[in-house]
Order: sequence, then structure tokens, then C-alpha cells
Amino acid sequence: MGYKVAVVGATGNVGREMLAILEERGFPVSEVVPLASRRSVGQEVSFGDKTLKVRALENYDFSDTDICLMSAGGSVSKEWSPKIGAQGCVVIDNSSAFRYDSDVPLVVPEVNADAVAGFTKRNIIANPNCSTAQLVVALKPLHDRFGIKRVVVSTYQSVSGAGKEGMDELDRQTKGLYSLKEPEVQKFSKRIAFNVIPHIDVFMEDGFTKEEWKMTVETKKILDPKIKLTATCVRVPVFIGHSEAVNIECEQPVTADEAREILRAAPGILVDDKREAGGYTTPIEAAGEDATYISRIREDATVENGLAFWCVSDNLRKGAALNAVQIAEVLANRKLIQPKARAAA
Ligand SMILES: NC(=O)c1ccc[n+]([C@@H]2O[C@H](COP(=O)([O-])OP(=O)(O)OC[C@H]3O[C@@H](n4cnc5c(N)ncnc54)[C@H](OP(=O)(O)O)[C@@H]3O)[C@@H](O)[C@H]2O)c1
Repeated sequence: MGYKVAVVGATGNVGREMLAILEERGFPVSEVVPLASRRSVGQEVSFGDKTLKVRALENYDFSDTDICLMSAGGSVSKEWSPKIGAQGCVVIDNSSAFRYDSDVPLVVPEVNADAVAGFTKRNIIANPNCSTAQLVVALKPLHDRFGIKRVVVSTYQSVSGAGKEGMDELDRQTKGLYSLKEPEVQKFSKRIAFNVIPHIDVFMEDGFTKEEWKMTVETKKILDPKIKLTATCVRVPVFIGHSEAVNIECEQPVTADEAREILRAAPGILVDDKREAGGYTTPIEAAGEDATYISRIREDATVENGLAFWCVSDNLRKGAALNAVQIAEVLANRKLIQPKARAAA
């Protein structure tokens, strides 16, 4: 018997990937229910070779649903996740609404799968920000071996990280520029077509942006509170796939060769590192894939025990939908929840 799974935000970028990944990975479902806002009621979404009709979140009763994959933004999650959790349905949330709550586990299964068990306090488990998820997958095996003290990361984040509207804006501006139209700026703060914008999410008092702050706080919560991390987050005109240039400083001496071997053996990682033209992964190749790709591994001689590398992943998959489904797999494989229909039988 499988689990009854609701996907909130099923018409969105992440929600559609969730439906695809549940099917691709053969997650044991008895039923999948796509939910979105009232605007989308009756719209059709694909689940394998089936077509499902979208229903409204606000009219849905979660009392016989086992798992809710939530990806409809922070304010929807803040309002709905506690109510859904109170109905005995475990919410795996993609927004930042509960990530920093001490009663809510923040999980990347390759890094801290055991933390999932802490879901019982609120029936909510949080997924990290997309740029954090791929980073901690790469940092974990290096931290276990070399003891990471400090991380400096610059991100190159695709427009799909800003939802459907972000993708539409890049598409519209790019096409418009070819017909000499003045680009209209709506979603981003400046033109994104043929440009880069060093600003994601709101500014904080210290001059960092919330996206940069999230990377610091989430890495500490998932991996190790002792790690110091400073980030610069940049939006780039790429549709799918976030890239990161990462520098780490370690407790132990580190060589590029040993780091490469450790990363090769680590879960969720594919090392693609030939020191020649094209011997590295770019977002185009990572889009639609599950792995976090690591390239350009080299020693950084400007600090003691330093290492630099390039890290790319599909932000809609490892950064969101895949990670959420992997968390659901931990719940199921470790028998942390039973299908309600079975319990009632
Ligand atoms: N994109 C990423 O890389 C990424 C990574 C990590 C986390 N996330 C998080 O995932 C969430 C969704 O992102 P996205 O990229 O999929 O956004 P998106 O493409 O803009 O989709 C948003 C989804 O939320 C639904 N929604 C909006 N308001 C709703 C309401 N009041 N009730 C029910 N459903 C509502 C929308 O339904 P309608 O179509 O009916 O409006 C749509 O299905 C956000 O919290 C985001 O921060 C995204």
C-alpha cells in the first residue's frame, strides 16, 4: 500500500518537477493530488502517463493524506503548513517559512538524513534554499575528512529560482531585445537579459542580502554551526541550473587529488574535472539531472589548507523537488510514517 501525497503548487516550476520525480523514482503512492490556487482549478498536470486535474488548496481536506509536498511560497506555507501538520499529514516545505525554527528539521538527505526523525514536533520538515542544497552536498564529504573552517562562495543563480515569472521575464526581454523593444523590468530589479544582477531577495541591515544570509544560516544548521560562510549571490541569465564558485579553508592539509577522490565516492556527486577546454560542467548539462556536479578542483595556495572548486546543479531538482522527494523516501524507507489508509484497515 502506498502513501497519499498532495503536491501544493503543482502548476509551478517546482511542483511540476515534484510530480515528475515522484513518478521517475517510483515513490510508493496510492494517490497523488495536485493542488494550487483557485486560479488553476481544473488545469491539467502530468503524472507519468496520467493527466491529473488541479484542485484548490483552500477546499482540500488533508485528514486522509499522508505527505504534503509544499511549494507555493512562504506566505502560503506560513498559513497552511501548521494546519496541514495538525491534521496528521507531514509537510515537506520548500519555502523559507519554517527553516530556522528549532522544532523543524532542515534536511538534505546526503548530509543529515537522521535529522528527519525530528519532524514529529510540528509535522513539518523544511527543504533548504536551492543554493544551499547543492553546496552542502559538496561540503559534507570534504568537512568529514578535512574539517572545513571557512567557506567563501559566489553564486550564479538561474532565473527559474525566481519561479515561473522569472523565466518568463528572461524569455520576454531576450526576444524583445532582438526586435529592438525596450525591455520591461517587473520581476527582477534590473534588466536580466544579457546582464547579471548582484542582488537576490531583500537587503539586510549589514548590507548582505537575505539569500546570502540564508546560505550562512542554513549551512550551519544542516552541516556544522562552527563553519563560517560568506556568500555573494548573483542572478544570471540562465533558465535552469545554479552554479557556485567555492573556496574553503580547512583544519587539515588538503590536496586537490585527495579531494577529487573523496568527492567521487560521495553520494549525490558527479566529479567532472578534466583540465582542458570543456572539461567541466555548466548549467546546460546539469539541467534535468539529479547530480551535483563538481569541476575545477584545485588547491588554493593563498590560505593555509585551501581548496577551490566549481559546483553546478539543477536548482529545481536537487535545489527543491528532488530533495523534497528524497526526504519523503527517508520517511517511507525508515518507516517513520505509515500510510493512514493502512493504519485504518
Ligand atoms: N525555483 C527554485 O529553484 C526553488 C528552489 C527552492 C525552493 N523554492 C521554493 O518553492 C516554492 C515555489 O517555487 P516555484 O519556483 O515553483 O514558483 P512558481 O513557479 O511561481 O509556482 C508557484 C506555485 O504556487 C502556487 N500558489 C501560489 N499562490 C497560491 C495559493 N494562495 N494557494 C495555493 N497555491 C498557490 C501557484 O499556483 P497558481 O498557478 O494557481 O498560481 C504555483 O503552483 C517557493 O516557496 C520557492 O521559494 C524554489
